[in-house]
Amino acid sequence: MRILVTGGAGYIGSHTCLELLNAGYEIVVIDNLSNSKLEALKRISELSKKDFQFYQADLLDKMTLEKVFLKNNIEAVIHFAGLKSVGESIEVPLHYYHNNVTGTLNLCQTMERYNVKKMIFSSSANVYGVPERVPITEASPLSAINPYGRTKLIIEEILRDLYGSDNSWSIALLRYFNPIGAHESGRLGEDPNDIPNNLMPYINQVAIGKRDKLNVFGNDYDTHDGTGVRDYIHVVDLAKGHLKALEMVIPTKGIDAFNLGTGTGYSVLDLIKGYENATSKKIPYTFAHRRPGDVDKSYADVDKANKILGWKALKSLEDMCYDSWRWQKNNPNGYDE
Ligand code: NAD
Ligand code: UFG
Repeated sequence: MRILVTGGAGYIGSHTCLELLNAGYEIVVIDNLSNSKLEALKRISELSKKDFQFYQADLLDKMTLEKVFLKNNIEAVIHFAGLKSVGESIEVPLHYYHNNVTGTLNLCQTMERYNVKKMIFSSSANVYGVPERVPITEASPLSAINPYGRTKLIIEEILRDLYGSDNSWSIALLRYFNPIGAHESGRLGEDPNDIPNNLMPYINQVAIGKRDKLNVFGNDYDTHDGTGVRDYIHVVDLAKGHLKALEMVIPTKGIDAFNLGTGTGYSVLDLIKGYENATSKKIPYTFAHRRPGDVDKSYADVDKANKILGWKALKSLEDMCYDSWRWQKNNPNGYDE
């Protein structure tokens, strides 16, 4: 079974590629390396002891997409490739729409031409906008509050229209909550460019001494300690969710959305405490203003993924924190040696 992984060199993609190879799937990776490094792919081969075909190419390049499908007998696609920074999407929305939406259109058109109609798409909890209530079920209202979230919502709708027009497609929309952590080998992890926007990579950089302290954005939210609550999920649990989704998508037809989270919400202060306990590193912090666009609480109802995909996140907050730190400690400069 040969699976095309778009964005396979990225944070979630690299962990998923490793799980796929370990489970005996053959993979082909396409990534333009705009937010990732070749070194991640080398390490996937090193850890799995398997080789795979890699195309350094952009989904906007239709000719290469055509070549990838022509030369490889692709049976299903896991589509991670996309730009993911909320803040950047507000600054350069056209770039985000073009990359994420046009890239997906090109991919779907090529898939259709080659009669490959099985797809897993990386959606996001961002499609729930400001959630009316938590835990968030898949039936909750969808809305987007920034261009990044809107690209995900638009793509979900495009995929629903595609299925509506041709019921031979089989599509899983996976709505990720907040992936953190790293592979237990300490060889794969998240390697942000510049100053991290997300909480865990920032905490890692404080722990390693690259930053003095963490700014906690807001301490007056409607949560148990006033700081924002999120559903943090270990990236390896998340990666395994893709294998479960593949097992569903391959033999069936249809389109469905699944929340991938743990179902538990932790605040920023809970995460700091969890990190300090797991790693014995002190994380100095100060309270700062709320970050525009942040919601107070977001965590998933994960019953649907549990019942239909037979998937459940297994790793603890301690695992997530310790594995994040091990990755940071072993790779202080990420994938740059
Ligand atoms: P990432 O940036 O580490 O990985 C995305 C990969 O896609 C990168 O390797 C990048 O180089 C590649 N890419 C981007 N545009 C491309 C294009 N046009 N052609 C070819 N390659 C391209 O991000 P990630 O954290 O691994 O996220 C993977 C997917 O999951 C993204 O679609 C993201 O929006 C979604 N997602 C991520 C999170 C999160 O918090 N990390 C949460 C929800 C959803
Ligand atoms: N936070 C801080 N300080 C920081 C960074 C973050 O206090 O330096 C706080 C935020 O205010 C928030 C929490 O930590 O309360 C988590 O913030 P992240 O930036 O790590 O994550 P978000 O929930 O804002 O967003 C992430 C991804 C989105 C994705 C969403 C849901 O960035 O792309 O999870 O999956 F859509």
